[in-house]
Amino acid sequence: MKKVNILATASVANLVCGFDVLGMALADPADRMTMSLTDRPGITITHEDGYGLPLDPEKNVAGVALLALVEDLKEKVGFHVTVNKLIKPGSGLGSSAASAAGAVAGANALLGNRFSNEDLVRFAMMGEKLASGVKHADNIAPGLYGGITLVRSILPLDIVRLSFPPLYVTVVHPQIEVKTSDARQILRNQVQLKDAIRQWGNIAGLVTGFLQKDYALIGRSLEDVIVEPVRSILIPGFVDVKQRCMAAGALGGGISGSGPSIFMLSIEERTALKVEQEMKEIYSALGIEFRTYVTRICDKGIKVTEADS
Ligand code: HSE
Repeated sequence: MKKVNILATASVANLVCGFDVLGMALADPADRMTMSLTDRPGITITHEDGYGLPLDPEKNVAGVALLALVEDLKEKVGFHVTVNKLIKPGSGLGSSAASAAGAVAGANALLGNRFSNEDLVRFAMMGEKLASGVKHADNIAPGLYGGITLVRSILPLDIVRLSFPPLYVTVVHPQIEVKTSDARQILRNQVQLKDAIRQWGNIAGLVTGFLQKDYALIGRSLEDVIVEPVRSILIPGFVDVKQRCMAAGALGGGISGSGPSIFMLSIEERTALKVEQEMKEIYSALGIEFRTYVTRICDKGIKVTEADS
């Protein structure tokens, strides 16, 4: 392949209780990218969206991920990447991870799949480091592995893909920007033991709920006593959204990644649509612009196909 099209899925990191370790890929929205392999070393980037993201590969999340891949390859190759971001930066929907993971997945296809998924996570984490100051893989892993993933450890990398029952995901993205780096800085560095106990009970419960397809257990475990109480103050309407969506029948939900997007899980599509209605009413009343999605978990993750060159 000389040129590929890439559909780089959005993702919901943390899944409420699993800060930096759990994440799921969404079917919608997704960034669209095209990529070609060149003999001329170096990375060139073109943006087709209006976000004004940096073109210098050293300052671009896709760029630094590709530079890490090229360094590992030890061959003189270059890539040209065209990016059309449909996942708004600063949305909490894994926008930077989509760019970084999408770019390395595309590069790998162009190189005849020489790298493992684990290698690709390692390269793409350089993008997350650039974006948020910290390497974390909870948005990248679901993009590259598909579905829902547990990042048990990043050093050494230990990623587990989880099975899960059918679920609908409703997302509201209030159009305010929350930078992941800021949303990380406000977190406390220490956790009380009683909170840690509650949190790891929830993480284990959520993972078991997914594996055993136990909806009630999933719902009960979607609780975060450590990060959500601090971060939710950055999101107007958060408490109302949670209360009203649960009353409308959602299993549970919370902040998507570092916010401001909020996600809710439902068993049935009609509940997911009712949840969307509640979200719309809340943000319309608050006078805050918003965008909603009713979507599914993307089982395959990032999609790479051959393009006409
Ligand atoms: N786990 C990260 C955080 C995800 O919550 O800061 C950022 O999208």
